[in-house]
Amino acid sequence: MRYGHGPEVLRDLSFDLPRGSFQFLTGPSGAGKTSLLRLIYLAAKPSSGRISYFGRDAAELTRKEMPLLRRRIGVVFQEFRLLNHLSVFDNVALPLRIAGRRRQDYAEDVAELLAWVGLGEKMDVVPATLSGGEQQRVAIARAVVGQPEILIADEPTGNVDPEMGMRLLRLFAELNKLGTTIIIATHDLSLVRMLDAPVMSLSNGHLHIRAPRSQRQAQANAAPEEAAAETAAMETPDE
Ligand SMILES: Nc1ncnc2c1ncn2[C@@H]1O[C@H](COP(=O)(O)OP(=O)(O)O)[C@@H](O)[C@H]1O
Ligand SMILES: [Mg+2]
Repeated sequence: MRYGHGPEVLRDLSFDLPRGSFQFLTGPSGAGKTSLLRLIYLAAKPSSGRISYFGRDAAELTRKEMPLLRRRIGVVFQEFRLLNHLSVFDNVALPLRIAGRRRQDYAEDVAELLAWVGLGEKMDVVPATLSGGEQQRVAIARAVVGQPEILIADEPTGNVDPEMGMRLLRLFAELNKLGTTIIIATHDLSLVRMLDAPVMSLSNGHLHIRAPRSQRQAQANAAPEEAAAETAAMETPDE
């Protein structure tokens, strides 16, 4: 992937996100995390290469199919993208409204989710009156409320304190248990260590995929030296 005639931002990437999987995406600022996520949620096209979704080549999707596919994907944008003329409640309920659901059928679920992310008292205000961390939680609630098949979150805990970060991670883990495929971009290694999930890491446009801890430990028992090297690499911070 490149922007205009600029340098390649991502190159030689090839991977699968298996249905129902959970992975982290790490890498320093500027490494290309947001660019890779934009490819995955089809906001950008690869300069060359192919992306396929649910077994279909994304380049062959028609203009009618695209919005239908997007409804199956929940996205937490790095810059939130909340609608300022709508209340917090209505921002979160928007994907359900678009899906044709009736307010009386979802009002309780939306309120419960907002309470869970600590915004029970702020349902009726507009996003502009909230702090960055509160706006981020609205963006997360909106992305998860419809139980999408895929959830893509770009630095979703970048504006909250560590305790809230863990709470939000638990929310993602719950959603994953219900079947949602999840990819979370973060440079917060303490978050990454909390779950036994594969870690995709970007540097210089290349992607390295590290197996989950449990899998590496199983390999360690089989080949102790290689595992020691992997563990040493893991202790090295990304930034
Ligand atoms: N809209 C854009 N136009 C031109 N270059 C961009 C654009 N967005 C990102 N880039 C460049 O692509 C690279 C990767 O950026 P980004 O994907 O935002 O990284 P990250 O999310 O890991 O911080 C950076 O060098 C950045 O300057
Ligand atoms: Mg980014």
